[in-house]
Amino acid sequence: MPAFAQSSQFSIEAGANIEAGAKVFRLCMSCHMVGDKAKNRTGPILNDLFGRPAASVKDYKRYSDAMIRAGAGGLVWDLDHINWYIENPKSLVSGTRMIFKGVKDPIDRSNLIEYLRQFSDNPANIVEAEPTILATDPDVHPSILAIVGDPAYGEYLSGECVTCHQIDGEVDGIPSIIGWNEEDFVIALQAYKTEHRTHEVMIMTARRLSDEEIAALATYFKTLGD
Ligand code: HEC
Ligand code: HEC
Repeated sequence: MPAFAQSSQFSIEAGANIEAGAKVFRLCMSCHMVGDKAKNRTGPILNDLFGRPAASVKDYKRYSDAMIRAGAGGLVWDLDHINWYIENPKSLVSGTRMIFKGVKDPIDRSNLIEYLRQFSDNPANIVEAEPTILATDPDVHPSILAIVGDPAYGEYLSGECVTCHQIDGEVDGIPSIIGWNEEDFVIALQAYKTEHRTHEVMIMTARRLSDEEIAALATYFKTLGD
């Protein structure tokens, strides 16, 4: 089982429009190029993006460890994952080096994706059937982010986690979870809970945790990094 599902649940909104997408792409242009004379800049070139494994542009040397791990874990830039990454980069790849708040409007994202796909030889995985409403909304409700975690309870709950996640850093491809900003931690666990992230063990783990328990774990693991 790859760590990331590769099916597409998102389809282009009715009336997606390349010219409008070119305007949305202005948000990306400070870091990315696409088209004939494109090169890597702060971010990797976006030609031939569709169907491309994450972190696979050979001559781009600035990928984060998190993106490299996601690529190794099976993340492929299909429609669904492009849509999600540009909506909220950190909720898909917590440690991503792409510092970008995301394109929140689904119509803007549809237009942008329609624009980008012109520069791919292989946009084959794009669903062109009936336009549907967006299947994914990775944003975590502010009331969940506002829960204050109890670190003592977090420590109690953490026993299970540290059988895999070493408390002194990254081991054998299992990411380090200490010292994270609490919000990023909660967003990552909620993304497993809602199956926006598709790693099966972590989905089962996160499903068993209440929102209060996730907050407690976030606070506890943050203090371990201090
Ligand atoms: C402030 C700079 C910046 C902006 C703005 C930005 N990106 Fe990025 N982007 C990056 C960086 C840096 C990476 C590499 C991320 C990593 O390795 O974690 C990246 C990675 C990506 C990737 C993954 C590529 C791969 O080869 O795996 C995609 C897709 C992407 N960006 C699309 C976009 C789109 C679309 C926009 C505009 C909506 C955008 N980015 C805006 C800097 C940026
Ligand atoms: C059986 C081993 C295992 C257990 C137990 C486990 N994890 Fe994980 N965890 C993983 C693996 C493997 C990944 C990377 C999954 C992926 O690629 O999406 C991961 C990913 C994560 C991430 C996201 C890391 C990132 O860089 O994006 C967080 C946060 C996390 N786990 C927290 C926890 C917490 C909290 C617990 C305990 C309640 C826990 N895990 C229990 C194996 C485990």
